[in-house]
Amino acid sequence: MLARSAVRAALTNSRSFSSSAARQTKVAVLGAGGGIGQPLSLLLKTNPLVTSLSLYDIRGAPGVAADVSHVDTASEVNGYPADQLDQALEGVEVVVIPAGVPRKPGMTRDDLFNTNASIVRDLAAAVARVSPQAHVLIISNPVNSTVPIVASVLEKAGVFDPRRLFGVTTLDVVRARRFLAGVTNNHPKDTGVTVVGGHSGKTIVPLLSQTAYGKGLDQETWSKLVYRIQFGGDEVVKAKDGAGSATLSMAYAGAKFTDALLRGLKGEKGVVTPTFVKSDLFADQGIDFFSSNVELGPNGVEKIHPLGPISAEEQKLLDECLPDLKKNIEKGKNFVAN
Ligand SMILES: NC(=O)c1ccc[n+]([C@@H]2O[C@H](COP(=O)([O-])OP(=O)(O)OC[C@H]3O[C@@H](n4cnc5c(N)ncnc54)[C@H](O)[C@@H]3O)[C@@H](O)[C@H]2O)c1
Repeated sequence: MLARSAVRAALTNSRSFSSSAARQTKVAVLGAGGGIGQPLSLLLKTNPLVTSLSLYDIRGAPGVAADVSHVDTASEVNGYPADQLDQALEGVEVVVIPAGVPRKPGMTRDDLFNTNASIVRDLAAAVARVSPQAHVLIISNPVNSTVPIVASVLEKAGVFDPRRLFGVTTLDVVRARRFLAGVTNNHPKDTGVTVVGGHSGKTIVPLLSQTAYGKGLDQETWSKLVYRIQFGGDEVVKAKDGAGSATLSMAYAGAKFTDALLRGLKGEKGVVTPTFVKSDLFADQGIDFFSSNVELGPNGVEKIHPLGPISAEEQKLLDECLPDLKKNIEKGKNFVAN
C-alpha cells in the first residue's frame, strides 16, 4: 500500500516537474537600461511564463537587474554590462530588442535609421552566433527597416527562420483599441482593431471596418481616428518635448506581445495578433515583410492570416502604405548587403 502510494507520488512529482521544466523560458532584453527597457523588464518579471530574465545594455543593465530582481515573483534575473553580450544571450529562447535612440520632436522614425541600423545589425549578429534558435522581437525603430536588417544578418549567418522573427507593432493595436473606445464610448475590451501594414505613419493601416464599433463611423470621425492611430506616437514625442518617445505604453505593448508569443510557444491554441513578419501576402509586389494577423504557436509563426474584407477607404490607405513600406524594407536590406 505504502509502496504503491510512494510510487504514485514519485510519478506525479516527476510529471509535474517535467511539465514545468518544459515551460522554462529564458527571455533576454537588449537595451534593458532604456526608457522602454526598464519598464519592459519589470513587466516581464511579473509574467509567470518567464522563468529567467537576462538584462543587457551598454549602460546600466546590472543596476536595473538588481532592482527588478527584488520583485517577489519566481523568475531569476541577471544583468550584464556592455562587454557581456554573449553571456547575456546564452540559452535564451526569446530576445526582445528595444536598444537604440528614440525620436525627438520633428523627427520621423526613418530619421533614426543611421544610428539604429548598426546597433540592431550588431545585436542580430550576436544572436546568430550565440542563440540562433531564439525568437527575436524587434522594437527598435524604424521597425519597417530594422526587421529586414535582422533577417538579412541571420540569413547571411545561415540561421534565419522566418517563423522566429517579429517586428513589434502591438503599440499601434493598443492605440487603435484605446482610441476607438474613446470616440465610441465603449470599453477597450470590446473595441479590438486589426492593424496591418508597417509601423510608421502612413504605413500603419487600421482595419476599422472589420470591427463592430468601427464600421459605422461617419467619414470625419473615421478620418480623424485613422490619423490619430497612424500618428499617435507624435503626440507623445511632442508632449515629452525632447525627452524621447513612447516608453511606458510601449513597454506595456512589448510585454503584451511577448506574453502572446510565450503562450503560443507553450502550446496555447488560437493566439492571434498582428505582427510584422516575413510574409507572402504582398511578396508579388516586392514587399516581403508585412504586418497582419498572425497565429502564434510552438514554432513561433504558425499561420499568417490574409487581410480579409476591407472597405474602399481602407484599400486607399493600403495603396498609400505599400510604396513607402517597400522603400523602408529595401533600405534595411541594402544596409546589410552593402
Ligand atoms: N516599436 C514601437 O512601437 C516603438 C515605440 C516606441 C519607441 N520605439 C523605439 O524603441 C527604441 C528605444 O526607445 P527608448 O525610448 O527606450 O530609448 P532610450 O534611449 O531611452 O533607451 C535605449 C537604450 O538602448 C541602449 N543601447 C544603445 N545601443 C545599444 C547597444 N548596442 N546594445 C544594447 N543597448 C544599447 C541605450 O544605452 C539605452 O539604454 C527607439 O528606437 C525607439 O524609436 C519603438
